[in-house]
Amino acid sequence: MAGTCVVGLQWGDEAKGKIVDLIGDEFDMVVRYNGGANAGHTVVVEGKTFKLSLLPTGVIRPSVTSVIGNGVVVYPPRFLEEVKTLLDGGVDISKRLVLSDHAHVIFPYHMEEERLAESGGEGKIGTTGRGIGPCYQDKVGRRFAIRVGELLRPDHLRERLRQVVPFKNRLMTAFADGAAGAKVFDATAIADEYLKYAERIRPYVTDTARLLHDSVKAGKRVLFEAAQGSLLDVDHGTYPFVTSSSSLPSGMWSGSGLPAKNVTRIIGVVKAYTTRVGRGPFPTELDDGMDGTGERIRKVGKEYGTVTGRPRRTGWFDAVAVRYTAALAGADEITLMLLDVLSGLPELKLCVGYDLDGERRTHFTSDAHDLERCKPVYETLPGWTEDITTCRTLADLPAAARRYVDRVSEMVGLPVSVVSVGPGREQTIRVR
Ligand code: IMP
Repeated sequence: MAGTCVVGLQWGDEAKGKIVDLIGDEFDMVVRYNGGANAGHTVVVEGKTFKLSLLPTGVIRPSVTSVIGNGVVVYPPRFLEEVKTLLDGGVDISKRLVLSDHAHVIFPYHMEEERLAESGGEGKIGTTGRGIGPCYQDKVGRRFAIRVGELLRPDHLRERLRQVVPFKNRLMTAFADGAAGAKVFDATAIADEYLKYAERIRPYVTDTARLLHDSVKAGKRVLFEAAQGSLLDVDHGTYPFVTSSSSLPSGMWSGSGLPAKNVTRIIGVVKAYTTRVGRGPFPTELDDGMDGTGERIRKVGKEYGTVTGRPRRTGWFDAVAVRYTAALAGADEITLMLLDVLSGLPELKLCVGYDLDGERRTHFTSDAHDLERCKPVYETLPGWTEDITTCRTLADLPAAARRYVDRVSEMVGLPVSVVSVGPGREQTIRVR
């Protein structure tokens, strides 16, 4: 079995969905292994637009079984809403979507915990507010977490919530410094609500690890779809300004139960520039005002968060950061997305090193404290004025665009396998 993983090598939103769409018909199964409804992707099927955040992008392909692995955290109303949107839109996923009984469940108190944590100035991360961090905290803390399989046992679920909810109420009330700021929750009301969801979720729930093992034995081809970007990985990203899961391919094994040896191709997806949402260091950020290049990239690239609608921070391509994540991901190739967004800029900058306290560096540091002080060292390349959205081969690109692609590839140290010049499936240059 030759499995493949598609992973973003920056801070997320690298347009991984387009790559999954391009190669999706080569696979029988698509697996999400990390994160929850904090990811966002827009998929267009026969002119209809679907906005998904929990279900994998691959879910729209009629021949593909979509798997939400044990490493994902699931907010049941969101799961059901996305399922309904697809069914209403004529995409019948009822027999080809499965959800791990070991995935953890997000409850309303997780979102409240997050709201309280994010409302203080100190320790604010700029999260998506979907309860992701608090749910993972409960998972690794072991005492208060509830898994999808437990939702299906009504008496057990009621009992668990009777233990958990009063504790959460006390914790949040104390955290909010008195009752005024914190919502309190009622265990019975949550149990009633979640048991209704449970009945609708039940048909999808299964032991997905076993399903994957059996499928691989039967020769099925599996595509892993990472959520978020590698620089948001909880271990190797720009901690603490990261998400709470392993977004690097290292999360595949634990987050799905399928050993990594089944995956032989890792596709690293990068934008031709960099974006980030939320707080945290971003050395190549272009914070240059409403008439500046940063705002122009934001407008042309429609760089607003799919989940929260927040304007994304924008900046130049950081080859130092991508070399780091490509190595950690074990990427075999990179796909360069949104190159068309750079058309019309007189010159382009590529970050090839950092200056940290007067010392020149060519390696990345994920330590947020150090990275905050890193000043980018740029190489400047000429821009191009031509519209490249109709280019279909490298030879169609203006010489300056080809040079940019080559230089990115050289600096990262990996071949570029795809260059994307627009959102459409056909607006793609397949290099190899
Ligand atoms: P959380 O995942 O909601 O806890 O947010 C933690 C950090 O990850 C914040 O900076 C978010 O903006 C960022 N983040 C989470 N999911 C995504 C994503 O899909 N794309 C880009 N950034 C994300």
